[in-house]
Order: sequence, then structure tokens, then C-alpha cells
Amino acid sequence: MLEKQIIAVVGATGAQGGGLVRAILNDPASSFIPRAITRDVNSEGAKKLARLGALVVRGDVDDEESLKSAFEGAYGAYCVTFWSHVSPDKETSTARNMAQAAKATGIKHAIWSTLEDTRKWIPLSDNRMPTLMGHYKVPHFDTKGEANRLFSDLGVPTTFLLTSFYWDNLIHFGMGPKKEPDGKLAFTLPMGDKKLPGIAAEDIGKCAYGIFKKDTEFIGKTLGVAGGHLTGAQMAASLTVALGQEVRYHSVTPEQYRAFGFPGAEDLGNMFQFKRDFEEYYCGARNLDSTRALNPSLQTFDTWLEQNKNRIPLG
Ligand SMILES: NC(=O)c1ccc[n+]([C@@H]2O[C@H](COP(=O)([O-])OP(=O)(O)OC[C@H]3O[C@@H](n4cnc5c(N)ncnc54)[C@H](OP(=O)(O)O)[C@@H]3O)[C@@H](O)[C@H]2O)c1
Repeated sequence: MLEKQIIAVVGATGAQGGGLVRAILNDPASSFIPRAITRDVNSEGAKKLARLGALVVRGDVDDEESLKSAFEGAYGAYCVTFWSHVSPDKETSTARNMAQAAKATGIKHAIWSTLEDTRKWIPLSDNRMPTLMGHYKVPHFDTKGEANRLFSDLGVPTTFLLTSFYWDNLIHFGMGPKKEPDGKLAFTLPMGDKKLPGIAAEDIGKCAYGIFKKDTEFIGKTLGVAGGHLTGAQMAASLTVALGQEVRYHSVTPEQYRAFGFPGAEDLGNMFQFKRDFEEYYCGARNLDSTRALNPSLQTFDTWLEQNKNRIPLG
């Protein structure tokens, strides 16, 4: 029997990396085995992955040497950054650490979980949306897009994976329907009547597994994934059916959204405006059929809701 090839997974106890680890382990015929990278091999999340059959090793994206140890001997690496790295400089330095560790250890196929550098569409001089932190329109997008070249300049064989809005944000990120003063639920987005590509977070890892299974096919290419392209009104209609009570779509302007004041509201307000104003490009870059080809069990918003509706806090 051929020895299984190792896929080293950053963020393995999190959403994207965890989805990839579980996708590999759920396929007994897989030619891969996941090596889950975590800062704490004794955490509950890490132990759970070990019980499922993953190799679990310590690694910290802020520490390049630890990443080299974690990537050593692996065939593939899944590279992702974290919300805790809200500082653009930090996101760039962690991406650099991952790219350099992949280069140093001779990784044969890296997947870099990236997003658009929106400044290619909206230069800093364009006043349709405010420039943030002096250099960015959508900081958590722009830094990822800018970091693509850290992988390509080093010659790391990389697939650039464009992710989409997690529908799980309705559970974990406070974006679910909220009670209006009249007691009715409303789902708020600054998207007008434009479509928002979304995905079940767990499906991103399944798509990444699909990419690794295709060997070198997507190396050097950019691939976007989504489980559905839905307007706010369509999402509200699905929520209405799933929750069994009316959910209205409350469309606000990006200006209003940016002024909501929660941490990251300006970044997200600009992000939604980019998705709204460049709907055709943004949806086109996240084709549903090609996503399903990578991940045949891809969930739609309705199937995701069926499984998760009871986890959505209705504030
Ligand atoms: N939310 C969305 O809609 C959305 C959509 C597209 C893209 N994204 C992007 O997705 C990324 C986050 O991915 P995710 O949702 O999979 O993350 P997540 O679920 O928040 O995962 C966090 C994981 O990161 C690991 N981690 C944190 N700091 C680390 C460090 N210094 N070194 C190594 N591991 C570390 C933690 O593992 P341990 O504690 O075990 O070390 C934890 O399991 C962000 O860059 C975000 O911009 C989000």
C-alpha cells in the first residue's frame, strides 16, 4: 500500500482548516493524511482532531521556525490567517512566514486562502469609500490579495483560493436577524438588491480537499468558491421559511453600516460595498458549478439553514 501523503493544515482547530482536516479523514480511501497545526496540542479542539485520526503538531504562524517543523516532510500545506490578526502588518507577516516555511520545506502544493486586493478595483484615490488605516480600502481583503505575491515570488507551487462570506457569521458574528422595535425580525445587509456569494464555512475545507485531489491542476491559478449567490431579500425569505416566522430584509447603505460602530464595522462596510458595486465580477469569480465539482456535497443556504437554524441567536 502506498504511504499516505501529509497535508499540513494551519488553523486546523478553526473553521477552514478544520473543514479540510475532517474532509480528508472522512474519506477512508484518501491518499492524504492531515497534520493539524495548533498552538496548543492539549486543547480540546486539538485532542478531538487527534481522536478522529489527525496527526497533531504544535505550530504558530507568528513563528516561522515552528512552521518549518510543522511543514517538514509534508506534501501539501493549507495556509490561512486569522481574525485575531486584524492588524494588516500582522496578517502580512504571518502570510510571509507561511510562504517562507513552505518554500524552505519544499512543499509541493500550497493552498493560500486569499481574497481580492480591492484597490485594483477601487484605488485609494477613489472616494466612493473611505481609505482605512492610510493604505487600504478593505484591509482584511487587501492584505490577503497583496500577500499572493509572497507565495508566487518565492516560487511556492500555490493555488490561490478565494473564499466567500460564511453563512456561519449569522451564528458566530452577530449578523443574524435582530428584533426590530415592532418585535419583527430583520436581517440587515448593505447590499441593496445585489447578490452576496456565501458558503457554509465547513465547505471551504471540503473544496480545498477537492483541489488537493486534483494534484497540480490548479497550481498557479486562482479559484473562487461559494455555495450560493443570494440577495439580502432572498436570504431573508429563506430565513423566514427556516425559522417559521417572518424575517424582513433591512437594506442599509454602506455609510450607515460603517457607522454601526462595532469593531471592524468600517472594514466590513467597505467590504460589502465592494461586493455590491462589483457584483458581476465578484459573483463571477465564485462559480457555483465549479465549486460543486470540487465538493459534490456543497451546501446551499437552505440546506445549511436546515442544519443550523437553531444555532442562530435571534437578538
Ligand atoms: N468569516 C467570514 O465570513 C470569512 C470569509 C472569508 C474569509 N475569512 C477569513 O478567514 C480567516 C479565518 O479563518 P477561520 O475562520 O478558519 O479561522 P477560525 O475559525 O477563527 O480559526 C481560528 C484558528 O486559528 C488558529 N490560530 C489563531 N492564531 C494562530 C496562530 N498564531 N498560529 C497558529 N494558529 C493560530 C487557532 O488554532 P489554535 O488555537 O488551535 O492554535 C484557531 O483554531 C480570516 O483571515 C478571515 O478574514 C472569513
